[in-house]
Amino acid sequence: FILSIRLALEETDENVKAKSLFNNSTSLTREDGLSSCARQPAVGAAPKAIRSYVYSRPPPWSEALPSIFVITPTYSRPVQKAELTRLANTFLHVQNLHWVVVEDAPRRTNLVSNLLEKTGINFTHLNVETPKSLKTPFWFPSQKARGTLQRNLGLHWLRENFNTTPPPEGVVYFADDDNTYSLEIFEEMRYTKKVSVWPVAFAGGLRYESLKLSPAGKVVGWKVAYDPKRPFAIDMAGFAISLRLILEKPQATFKLDRVKPGYQETSILQDLVTMDELEPRAANCTKVLVWHTRTEKPGLGNEGKYGFTDPRMEV
Ligand SMILES: *[C@@H]1O[C@H](CO)[C@@H](O)[C@H](O)[C@H]1NC(C)=O
Repeated sequence: FILSIRLALEETDENVKAKSLFNNSTSLTREDGLSSCARQPAVGAAPKAIRSYVYSRPPPWSEALPSIFVITPTYSRPVQKAELTRLANTFLHVQNLHWVVVEDAPRRTNLVSNLLEKTGINFTHLNVETPKSLKTPFWFPSQKARGTLQRNLGLHWLRENFNTTPPPEGVVYFADDDNTYSLEIFEEMRYTKKVSVWPVAFAGGLRYESLKLSPAGKVVGWKVAYDPKRPFAIDMAGFAISLRLILEKPQATFKLDRVKPGYQETSILQDLVTMDELEPRAANCTKVLVWHTRTEKPGLGNEGKYGFTDPRMEV
C-alpha cells in the first residue's frame, strides 16, 4: 500500500491517469496503481471531493495482515492536540492499525474524543488518572510514573478484549505522543514473533541508542551510554511485543514500585523474553526509524494570570 502512495505522489503520469479516471467517474482505485485497495468497498459511484480519489485513509483493513495495536499515553498540556494530530497523520498511513489512546485524566476529554472521532482511525479511548502521590516521588522528582498506569490499562484492555475470541495476529507498540515515527517502523514490527527491537534517535543523551548484535545477528548487548547494565537497556519506542505473548503472559505489566529511572522497559520485558530471543529489525539495527523528538514548550508568558486569549478556543 505504501508503494502505491509513493507511486501516486511521485509519478506524474500516474496522477494524470488517476485524474482523468476520476473525471470519467470511474472507480479507479481498484484498477490503477492502487490494486491493494481492492478489498475496500467502492467509496461511491461519483465521489465529489478530489481528495477522496487518490487513496483512502486509513488504508482498508485486511484480514490477511497482522494488526498493530499502538498504545499511547497522553495528558493535557498546551501542545497535546498538536502532538496527537501529528501522530494521527502518521498512523493514518498504516494498514491495520488500532490506536489505543489512554488519557492521564479523571475523565476522557472532549478534545481527545473529538480528535479521535475525526481522524477516521480505528481507536479505543480510555482514561486513568495517575494519583498525585505517584507523580513526583521525593527521591526522584521527575515524572517517573507518567504513562505507567496508562500503558498498563492499554494492556488490560487488550487482554480483556481478546480473552474469549481467538486473538488476531498482531503486535503491540507503546508510542508516546512526543516521538516521530517513520512509516517503515510499522512494517518492521508487524511480523514480530515475540519482541522486536531497533535503534531510537535522541535517547539517553545520544544521537541514537542501539543494540549490539553478534555476527550471527543476535542481540548480545546494548549500545547505550546511560546505565548499560540494565537487563533491557531499550527505550520505550525501541521495541514491540507480539499480541500473542501479551496474552500468554497476563502477569507482564509495567511496574510502579521500586522502578528506577530507565527501568520501566525492563520491568515488563524481563517477564516476557530473554535477550537472545529479541528480534533485531531495521536492517540489523543499522537504521533509525523512530526519533524521540519532543516538542518545544511554547512560550505563553503573554497570557498573563487570567489569560489573554479566549479560553473557549480549543488549541
Ligand atoms: C542481518 O544479519 C544477518 C547475520 O549476519 C544476515 O544474515 C542478514 O542478511 C542481515 N539482514 C539484513 C537485513 O541486513
